Amino acid sequence: MLHLEYLNIFYALKTTKDSPQDVGREKEEKEKNKSAEEFVVVRKDKEKRRTRSEKEFEELDFHKTESHVPVMLGEVVDVFSSLHLRSFIDCTLGAAGHSSAIIKGHPELECYIGMDVDPVAHAKSRANIDALLHSTPSNLKPHLLFKNFKYIKSVIGEIDDYNLLSCGVDGILMDLGMSSMQVNNPHRGFGVLANGPLDMRMDPRASVKAKDILNYWPEDEVGRILREYGEESNWRWLQKKVVQARQQGGLHSTGELRDLIQGTTRGAREGRQGWIKTATRVFQALRIAVNDELNTLEKSLHACFESLAPGGRLAVISFHSLEDRIVKQAFLKIIESNEGNGDGVEEETGKRDLRKVRNESDAKEAWIRQMVRGQNGTILTKRPITPSEEEEGLNRRSRSAKLRVIEKVR
Ligand SMILES: C[S@@+](CC[C@H](N)C(=O)[O-])C[C@H]1O[C@@H](n2cnc3c(N)ncnc32)[C@H](O)[C@@H]1O
Repeated sequence: MLHLEYLNIFYALKTTKDSPQDVGREKEEKEKNKSAEEFVVVRKDKEKRRTRSEKEFEELDFHKTESHVPVMLGEVVDVFSSLHLRSFIDCTLGAAGHSSAIIKGHPELECYIGMDVDPVAHAKSRANIDALLHSTPSNLKPHLLFKNFKYIKSVIGEIDDYNLLSCGVDGILMDLGMSSMQVNNPHRGFGVLANGPLDMRMDPRASVKAKDILNYWPEDEVGRILREYGEESNWRWLQKKVVQARQQGGLHSTGELRDLIQGTTRGAREGRQGWIKTATRVFQALRIAVNDELNTLEKSLHACFESLAPGGRLAVISFHSLEDRIVKQAFLKIIESNEGNGDGVEEETGKRDLRKVRNESDAKEAWIRQMVRGQNGTILTKRPITPSEEEEGLNRRSRSAKLRVIEKVR
């Protein structure tokens, strides 16, 4: 009976994911992006695939927060510093590290909305934002909502005191991945090393936990998750072992899953590094599946961009290549799209000329190096910005971070 229930949940989720139309659309998009990239004027000197931040890292800020250290804080502040920020939405509140810096730096803010699906993040962020607003003269009434960012449009519709629906939002931030509060709490099941329940839900109201996938979802689907979301080369073998474990009562704790991985990793000879790397990929795969992270991200990027005011900016920090690829491709698609307010320009200049790379040394916004222009907006980070060496050295979690920014046409 229970098994059937989980199968139903699985098929309900599945129908929203990989329909043949989606696969076809994905192929079409890949082709489109490929050809779009061909129009980009490539500089003669070989371009790097990322731009390492040269921003001075403020160690003081780093040590101030005991719970979650915001990644690329100074860089995020720079992204919005030149804007008159009347409204701002933080899609991923966490401990409100980024939000606090934005609120502090923009006394002109009239409307601030923060969203998170994790109640722990809400408690933390509310305390931090309240303390900040107490210590500075401000009339700002923050709206902190226990909502998934995929509902950004309906949230904006609900809080319409500021005409956000018609005027748009000046700044939106997404800082993806997990907070330290989540990873460091063994009861949440995110960490590879500590023992805890196989949960991994960011939103405790959600019905599917990691153990449900491992113990009840069809074998092929377990394999697909390991292969696609973990990019794990040993996925077949692991899939077999996970399914075999069902005959002995299944997997219920992160320790049991870790032992299974440790025992089945071909690179066991490589010692701790070998199985930990595999375990990290398996845990990532399960977390992505439990929280439906990639589908949610792709849809939400479009909704966020549509919610921006003319000249408004959306900044996204991602933490692994699957996320970063989605952000990169969605941004390219967004700026090219015929929908929205790009008409006229296309007629005038012809489609090919719309996409140009500019090497910009605007003194006002030194962080902008190369842009990609489209009819609906401009990608301000042709190459993603990555943390400074100093930040990487001090905060391990920042090592894989990539920041991409898009601006809506004015
Ligand atoms: C890396 S943390 C954000 C940290 C935050 N920027 C700070 O400075 O403290 C990511 C947060 O996003 C939340 N989150 C992840 N996916 C979400 C979604 N789809 N909707 C809302 N919140 C989400 C997580 O619960 C987590 O608290």
